[in-house]
Amino acid sequence: MDPARLLQRALDLAVPHHPHPNPRVGAVIVDHAGRITGEGAHVAAGEPHAERVALDEAGDAAIGSTMVVSLEPCAHHGRTPPCTDAIVAAGVRTVVFGAVDPDPRVAGEGAERLRQAGIEVIGPLDQHLVEGADPAYFHHRRTGLPLLTLKAAATLDGQIAALDGTSRWITGPAARADGHLLRARVDAVMVGAGTLRADDPELTVRLEAHSGRQPVPIVVTGGEPLPAQARLWARGALVLAPPGRPVPEGAEAVPVGTLADGGLDLRSGLAELAHRGLLDILVEGGGGLAASLWSAGLVDQGVLYLAGMLAGGRGRSVFDRAWETLADGIAVEIVEVTRLGSDLRIEWRRAG
Ligand SMILES: NC(=O)c1ccc[n+]([C@@H]2O[C@H](COP(=O)([O-])OP(=O)(O)OC[C@H]3O[C@@H](n4cnc5c(N)ncnc54)[C@H](OP(=O)(O)O)[C@@H]3O)[C@@H](O)[C@H]2O)c1
Repeated sequence: MDPARLLQRALDLAVPHHPHPNPRVGAVIVDHAGRITGEGAHVAAGEPHAERVALDEAGDAAIGSTMVVSLEPCAHHGRTPPCTDAIVAAGVRTVVFGAVDPDPRVAGEGAERLRQAGIEVIGPLDQHLVEGADPAYFHHRRTGLPLLTLKAAATLDGQIAALDGTSRWITGPAARADGHLLRARVDAVMVGAGTLRADDPELTVRLEAHSGRQPVPIVVTGGEPLPAQARLWARGALVLAPPGRPVPEGAEAVPVGTLADGGLDLRSGLAELAHRGLLDILVEGGGGLAASLWSAGLVDQGVLYLAGMLAGGRGRSVFDRAWETLADGIAVEIVEVTRLGSDLRIEWRRAG
């Protein structure tokens, strides 16, 4: 048995699914000869956990087997009973788990329960690898907030739109297709009301090989009038708005309190979105919303497409706020730089 290879198999099973607010989990069961007798993934919230799916497939072959599961099995009653009970009842001999679950209802408890029942427990095998397969889940359990990724397409000299608001298209087809891949991975896509008014975006994943699942659209408004007709209303967009503000037909209001400066309390708005199972949010601008989120320290990482185009003057920048002095800049780590057609794709995250 090669635990690292089986953990990778469990992750491959888990990654295509969107079970948030639950974690992406995959599980593989092998017999004493190393043959896979059962495997499964947690496909959606409310559906059986990966361990259950794998145990059901293995049936009696689970007796005396080894289970390799990407995350420490749960020991609490949620919408489904604890996986630790199912593992014990099935007669599994050894459990190898990939990562400790930071959820306080599990953290160490799952492994401890299994050990108490006489099961050999090995792990965490590779915490870093497993967290990389579902970073939003781990981020949410540690901070209570969704993982926010800021996407922006800018000219080489940093403008996301001209002064008249035109911005389509700054980047070429390869970068735009990559943007659709980003959408396909997240639970929700967020824009400010200014972008809604300027662009009437759809915010859908438009790729040939796509499952059809679409991210939830979210609009942020301080309460200025919204257009009665917009493509996002037909998609049932959530609208973060001050309490009592009416939203157009088709949209759903998410009331958010305001701060002393009159802006929305975006931190509590995001916590509410996480409560609704939206743990992985792509922010697609514009500069006003990006500046609000940045000032509140809520942006975790980003993808910046830098186009083979120079604006040659002042337009609208990624963050619509003044940068008063150098010391106010915040260090970010450049994770990856890729060339896409005539554009650059720069992936970054907050340092530390
Ligand atoms: N190149 C790109 O990647 C890209 C991406 C997106 C957009 N754009 C361009 O950017 C331009 C739009 O940018 P923008 O800065 O005008 O608009 P925006 O950032 O999309 O939206 C700004 C609006 O969002 C709401 N908002 C933002 N922060 C808030 C807070 N803390 N509290 C309450 N409400 C808040 C307010 O809505 P209310 O006005 O309703 O109060 C505010 O006016 C367009 O020209 C668009 O084409 C470019």
